[in-house]
Amino acid sequence: MAKYTIPEDIKNPELLRWVTDMAELCEPDAIYLCDGSQEEYDRLCEEMVAAGTFIRLNQEKRPNSFLARSHPSDVARVEDRTYICSLSKGDAGPTNNWMAPKEMKAILTPKFRGSMRGRTMYVIPFCMGPIGSPISQFGVQLSDSPYVAVNMKIMTRMGTKALEAMGDGEFVHCLHSVGMPLAEGQQDVPWPCSPDPKDKYIVHFPEERSIISYGSGYGGNALLGKKCLALRIASTLGREQGWLAEHMLIVGVKSPNGRKDYVCAAFPSACGKTNFAMLIPPKEFREEGWEVTTVGDDIAWIKPDETGKLRAINPEYGFFGVAPGTNYSSNPNAMDSIRENTIFTNVALTDDGDVWWEGMDGEPPAHAIDWQGNDWTPASEKPAAHPNARFTAPITQCPVVDEHFDSPTGVPVSAFIFGGRRNTVVPLIQQSFNWAFGVYMAATMGSEMTAAAFGNIGEVRRDPFAMLPFAGYHMGDYFSHWLDLGRNIPEPPRIFSVNWFRKDENGKFLWPGFGENFRVLKWIVERTNGGGGAETTVLGWKPRHEDLDWTGLDFSPAAYAAASKIDPAEWAAEIALQKELFAKVGGRLPGSLNALIGGIETEFKKL
Ligand code: OXD
Ligand code: MN
Repeated sequence: MAKYTIPEDIKNPELLRWVTDMAELCEPDAIYLCDGSQEEYDRLCEEMVAAGTFIRLNQEKRPNSFLARSHPSDVARVEDRTYICSLSKGDAGPTNNWMAPKEMKAILTPKFRGSMRGRTMYVIPFCMGPIGSPISQFGVQLSDSPYVAVNMKIMTRMGTKALEAMGDGEFVHCLHSVGMPLAEGQQDVPWPCSPDPKDKYIVHFPEERSIISYGSGYGGNALLGKKCLALRIASTLGREQGWLAEHMLIVGVKSPNGRKDYVCAAFPSACGKTNFAMLIPPKEFREEGWEVTTVGDDIAWIKPDETGKLRAINPEYGFFGVAPGTNYSSNPNAMDSIRENTIFTNVALTDDGDVWWEGMDGEPPAHAIDWQGNDWTPASEKPAAHPNARFTAPITQCPVVDEHFDSPTGVPVSAFIFGGRRNTVVPLIQQSFNWAFGVYMAATMGSEMTAAAFGNIGEVRRDPFAMLPFAGYHMGDYFSHWLDLGRNIPEPPRIFSVNWFRKDENGKFLWPGFGENFRVLKWIVERTNGGGGAETTVLGWKPRHEDLDWTGLDFSPAAYAAASKIDPAEWAAEIALQKELFAKVGGRLPGSLNALIGGIETEFKKL
């Protein structure tokens, strides 16, 4: 006899069928339909405190906030366990793991059989994007993790409002289990998951518009609205329907004359994306009336309106940001966003019940409990917070949230920025000659590895459009989609490449970064409005020293020359590496990109 009953508020016929079938498969003890209310959130958090999953933080210092510590095997997205199970292997392309859908289901179905025993199945209806927006998409996640349910409330528009707006319409099916059923009477653990790294599966079925995730409770593996739906599934939807789902932040730039431009920027993970999304212009510019506002910090959905103007929404409703390194000088707006109502995962706990991580302001605490629950002091060898420790916080708490962040029609896009982390070779700022040239710049971007996570330190990991782990289909088709989209709109936004991370021969950064990046952003906005001086280079247009506004900063022409240098010898080697990527993309690489790279090579040889 099933222990559960199907919640009667589930009226959407497909949702009812699916919940019924999945409950039969997963055999939860109970099924709970999330309404998304504050009362529900508080209750689930309280239950997790009782279960040992959450620690309530000091109410005075960090009101209504919690700390979770994950299992040490479950601390990050697992790219090697992430699959795109399109019907044809060719459609997943050379940069994604693939398995035939049938084969994958033959592995997953037995894993889900009884996987929720002893647990509650949470039915989590959500909307990615403002409810009522023609760009938004509905999803429903079935999960046996209350941690997921409360994070989804912060990260998405979740609950009754989404369910009602969805009506009998379509939704992306997102099935998730932590993969640790409980036998009769078995005591639960604070962070259930499947501890074997090979027993985690993050699987996308693009043709079915469905996602199945097994074995992990962490971040992008488990909060399926984020990378799985909003990037991998949405990118395939966008390709079919003529729009873009991108790994981009969105910022508004308001000038003293009141003009507002919106800019979308793609950066790979660990390139200061959250800092740029909440950038504070230097004092002199703020006093003049410049303002930067945040629409989103990670993902943008971009669609042409009826006039062909690109408009962007942030499909998310919260921040899932990396905590270590965040402080009041690197990102005061992020620090203010997480003062309350925040879930912290894998940070350290201080003796007064607050949180701490490496790179936070002030002195390290004399004693803390590290992310694994052990005593920690500044003399300890291991970090107190895991390097991928996170905060989950509502976007509405961001002091500079844009007035239109929740607007169903989105914001108009003036420019795209692409930036990797390159110690050498790539100049501070370049404007592409045209859309296709911009697609080449974005396709070839990359980052030097700072940790040995994905390769050898110092090696360049190509990360086209910062989408390498997130494109839900063949990278060559993805480039073609970008080229086509630009051809079919009357005035495509301008495209820029930036590199904040160039170093001198002593390893010292050549560019101050952080708020000073505003100087580059200001030039970008000027260029998109027909102003801003520049010189022509092989790689596009580049501001001369006198074209950037140096008010309040002593940055000499020589320093600028070093940060913005284009060295033909370095570029010869760079182009050879870029061609390796193009060779990997293979037969589906658009011919025009090959032609472009050949042209650039020839131009460099002439110098
Ligand atoms: C992220 C990422 O967590 O890009 O946003 O890895
Ligand atoms: Mn990201």
